[in-house]
Amino acid sequence: MMASPRKLKILGIESSCDETSVAILSDEDVKVNLISSQHFHKTYGGVVPELSSRAHLQIIKPLVDSALESANLKINEIDLIAATAGPGLIGALLVGLTFAKGLSYSLNKPFVSVNHIEGHIYSGFLMDKKPEFPMLVLVVSGGHTLLLYVESFTKIFLLGTTVDDAAGEAFDKVSKLLGFGYPGGQQIETSALKGDEKSIKFPIAELKDEYNFSFSGLKTSVLRFVQKNFTNRNIPEIDLNNISASFQKALVDALVQKVNFALQNHKVKSLSLVGGVAANQKLRNELNNLADQFKIPCIIPSLSYCGDNAAMIALRGLQLFKSGVRDSLRAKPYPAIPQNHFLRLSNS
Ligand code: KG4
Ligand code: ZN
Repeated sequence: MMASPRKLKILGIESSCDETSVAILSDEDVKVNLISSQHFHKTYGGVVPELSSRAHLQIIKPLVDSALESANLKINEIDLIAATAGPGLIGALLVGLTFAKGLSYSLNKPFVSVNHIEGHIYSGFLMDKKPEFPMLVLVVSGGHTLLLYVESFTKIFLLGTTVDDAAGEAFDKVSKLLGFGYPGGQQIETSALKGDEKSIKFPIAELKDEYNFSFSGLKTSVLRFVQKNFTNRNIPEIDLNNISASFQKALVDALVQKVNFALQNHKVKSLSLVGGVAANQKLRNELNNLADQFKIPCIIPSLSYCGDNAAMIALRGLQLFKSGVRDSLRAKPYPAIPQNHFLRLSNS
């Protein structure tokens, strides 16, 4: 009997914002996915870049050691090292990226730099039931809202994006103005569960560019509603819950409308919802229902793979490695998605 080929052991590192994460994969199987969240940013109402970098620096080495221990591996048994290079906070990225490059150099093991958004895009492949190409992907995170037609592991077409705030950013801003604090998605969702989503009608932006999103008007109308109806932001709990539920409904409706429109115009074999806001149960339910109507599977990562995590970075690193990519130790961090990074598909 032929021995089956040895599985590749991939070490993934993510440090683009306020989560330090280290994962180890054995081929595509996640052996360990450790996530250390920097909760102290809550005090400041948002992520403080300099504090974020310092916290990454303190935790990165112990986290890599813990991950190796949990996976029962020695560092020299790792075959490939993958780290996020961008987009994100430069100082934060620099910590994970430099640490990964240092390991690659000292162990003489290949290194692949990963685009964080591509990590999210293909994160559905971490699940047992994999997406099928071509797939439509909705990326909803704190920094990005993207609707994508994904043809393969290398061909990603951009259909639409937000013209102002990202979906997660809208959750966070409304959360702040309702007094729930930062980050706000989870807190709005909890409050919304106790509210009536039909109690207030917040508007959904009508944009000429059919696949683009806009959320700043929605945020402003929540602000106006609060200013008009309550003095000094003194909002009784019942109203807080109704505002949360009505805001969440408007935002989810806006997302679902565009996905529906894209599914009508593009024949795909699967739908995938990814990114931090994909943790939202209402959005998960509605996209699952929509996919059912189109008779295609909807792949949504489990909660630990929705927010920032290194498992998705290791997996994307493996996909790139298999397609021949090897990065030099000169790879630099970058703050934003490079221009024209995604291909353009005509919106028809
Ligand atoms: O992907 P992610 O962890 O970080 C970025 O790359 O931005 O996304 C974080 C975002 C935050 O804006 C947070 O409020 C939002 O995801 N979020 C949620 C929920 N959980 C996290 N939004 C809505 N509902 C949730 N349950
Ligand atoms: Zn992210």
